[in-house]
Amino acid sequence: MRLTTALLSLAASALAIENNNDAAQIPLEPSTVLPTEPLTLDTIPLLGFGTWNLKDNVSEAVSWAIQTGYRHIDCADAYGNEDKVGKGISDGLLKTGLQRSDLWVTSKLWNNAHGTSAPEAAIETTLKRLGVGYLDLYHMHWPVSQSTFGNNKIEYRDTWAAMGLLLEKGKTRHIGVSNFDPEQLKDLLNHTSHPPSVHQMELHPYLQQNDWIAFHEKHNIHVTAYSPFAGTNPTYSWPEGVSPILNNTVLQKIAKKRDCTAAQVALAWGMHRGTSVIPKSQHKKYIEQNFGSLKCELKKKDIKKIDELGEAHLRFNNPSKGWKVDLYKGLEGV
Ligand SMILES: NC(=O)c1ccc[n+]([C@@H]2O[C@H](COP(=O)([O-])OP(=O)(O)OC[C@H]3O[C@@H](n4cnc5c(N)ncnc54)[C@H](OP(=O)(O)O)[C@@H]3O)[C@@H](O)[C@H]2O)c1
Ligand SMILES: *[C@@H]1O[C@H](CO)[C@@H](O)[C@H](O)[C@H]1NC(C)=O
Ligand SMILES: *[C@@H]1O[C@H](CO)[C@@H](O)[C@H](O)[C@H]1NC(C)=O
Ligand SMILES: *[C@@H]1O[C@H](CO)[C@@H](O)[C@H](O)[C@H]1NC(C)=O
Repeated sequence: MRLTTALLSLAASALAIENNNDAAQIPLEPSTVLPTEPLTLDTIPLLGFGTWNLKDNVSEAVSWAIQTGYRHIDCADAYGNEDKVGKGISDGLLKTGLQRSDLWVTSKLWNNAHGTSAPEAAIETTLKRLGVGYLDLYHMHWPVSQSTFGNNKIEYRDTWAAMGLLLEKGKTRHIGVSNFDPEQLKDLLNHTSHPPSVHQMELHPYLQQNDWIAFHEKHNIHVTAYSPFAGTNPTYSWPEGVSPILNNTVLQKIAKKRDCTAAQVALAWGMHRGTSVIPKSQHKKYIEQNFGSLKCELKKKDIKKIDELGEAHLRFNNPSKGWKVDLYKGLEGV
């Protein structure tokens, strides 16, 4: 079965969600051949586990996620916990009897490792910390190199070319970008023979970016939604007068009707539109509850109501001031 995001209908999306538990959907052994096809939704599990801000019982949380059924773990060098996440991965595999190849492991290249030679050393460090031989997906975390902060300069072409070599060397099965704006992505597409397989960006009911998602569908680039609970994480804060998303009455009413929680409704909505979602939690009960979103069935009228929340245009992750670079030009919520 080969579904492209462009072809994804409501029915197909429901099917993809159902199939998420199915071992057949899980990616195969790492390949040393360059993937020539864009990622399809039956290769990246639509529900993943986020690891930013995981502190204290990091390994326990990751292991619990795997034991609960998550098969996709979202990591990054910048989160400063890849060694502990790696312990959680090996513990989870041990406890479930699964193998490395049953998981989809994503990580990201930090801004201090841009350029032609640094990416290889960076991925080697990440692989070692995570205790895996290869990644399924390696993102460029941001289109900016730390060395150009303050000059309002953006650098990604050389870094992207270097990441392409990591594919050829079998260090990662796919490469992707994160936090690019339309001009940057179009420019990258114009200057590479290997388009990104995945773009990871902030997306939730308060920041829906429909046109931007449509652009990716057109180019067969899968989209992963980060911060699926909007401003809920401890690093962000809610603007005055805005109801925290999990307290939103629209989501709560739908949740009550469909026998879900507001968190599950937000995640189910994200998967329903073809994006993968990567909620983070350090609590067993939330890890389990969020996994239950695969069973939260939304009706068309629910989707319509959630779509209306998009008028908020709220973006929580924007480091452009601190880094002195323009980010997200032309996108919602800037
Ligand atoms: N590419 C990028 O630049 C980028 C940027 C941001 C995030 N990300 C990725 O996306 C992942 C998710 O985003 P995020 O960490 O920003 O935030 P998030 O997953 O949207 O929200 C996490 C927050 O929600 C709470 N929570 C989780 N499940 C809950 C539930 N069922 N009920 C109530 N509260 C719940 C968590 O609390 P507890 O942990 O206390 O349980 C935590 O405070 C990250 O971990 C990271 O992997 C990537
Ligand atoms: C982590 O510790 C907290 C506090 O003791 C607990 O509530 C939570 O369930 C623990 N998480 C895991 C995955 O063990
Ligand atoms: C990409 O190439 C197309 C076709 O040559 C051109 O029209 C477009 O302006 C280019 N975009 C960018 C951002 O360079
Ligand atoms: C949101 O809901 C939680 C739990 O139901 C509650 O403790 C909190 O006070 C609510 N916050 C707001 C701003 O309504």
